[in-house]
Amino acid sequence: MNFQEKYGFYQSVFEEYITEVFNKLDGHSKLIDAMKYSALSGGKRVRPVLMLATSEILGGDIKKALPYALAIECIHTYSLIHDDLPSMDNDDLRRGKPTSHKVYGEDFAILAGDALLTFAFEHALGAITCQKGVRALKYLSECAGFSGMVGGQAYDLNPILGGGESQLLTTDILKTSKLISAPLKMAGILFDGDENALEKFGELLGIIYQFVDDLLDATSDEKTLGKAVKKDSDLGKVSAVSVYGIEKTREKIKELEVSALKCLKKIDNSEFLKIYLENSTKRLY
Ligand code: IPE
Ligand code: IPE
Ligand code: MG
Ligand code: MG
Ligand code: MG
Repeated sequence: MNFQEKYGFYQSVFEEYITEVFNKLDGHSKLIDAMKYSALSGGKRVRPVLMLATSEILGGDIKKALPYALAIECIHTYSLIHDDLPSMDNDDLRRGKPTSHKVYGEDFAILAGDALLTFAFEHALGAITCQKGVRALKYLSECAGFSGMVGGQAYDLNPILGGGESQLLTTDILKTSKLISAPLKMAGILFDGDENALEKFGELLGIIYQFVDDLLDATSDEKTLGKAVKKDSDLGKVSAVSVYGIEKTREKIKELEVSALKCLKKIDNSEFLKIYLENSTKRLY
């Protein structure tokens, strides 16, 4: 299989799994509908794909990785529902569709996010068979909470470190890199990989991911991205573009790519991750 076919394979394995799990959920119908609306709405599934691919690279069974991949994607999905709320980025469009609060109201968008966050751990804890699973979920909780994604969203909304590079890196490492590092390091924990190299690679990939997102916000269009553009400048956000400008952001991405490639040298059979990295920086051109 070439890279595209492999990405498609991991995506479809994950899609089938998450669809089956979510179709079994039973409860308040509007809440379940709101959870499914966002969880099954055609995201790129970057984090689950990274988890399944890394598990396979390490010789692990991707079936064992699926409950953890689902947990990460639930947390990511909740982060987007809350990120789009009027009190945060106030966005009406996500993945080419109206945002959760536009369809279900702010109250149910908040609840859907809350429910996805708790379901992430409920589901993955139900699949734990060994102590390594406990350690993987502890790491995921750190990546998601005040010392991870939620902390990053706090710096994003309230940039108390000033507007410069250190503000930018602190924010992006927390709000984005932690949830990109999570699938890589969790696969490392579960299947005995080089956890430090995987975590470091994930951190660099995550910064690149957010810099690319910031660049696309400034240079792409709503139809291509499925979400509004020029939001960062409209909201006065500290972004890669506000700190470096467009050209220097592209140079920084190239520099980060070189460092990320160095980390990969420590991981055998990591061709898929290498091509993924190269493709994520190519989204710019
Ligand atoms: C968007 O994440 C938010 C960022 C961290 C930049 P994705 O680009 O992974 O969004 P989906 O899940 O594919 O919609
Ligand atoms: C989102 O960053 C990071 C999250 C933790 C949700 P952005 O606010 O830039 O993501 P988009 O552009 O709305 O997808
Ligand atoms: Mg935001
Ligand atoms: Mg946003
Ligand atoms: Mg953005």
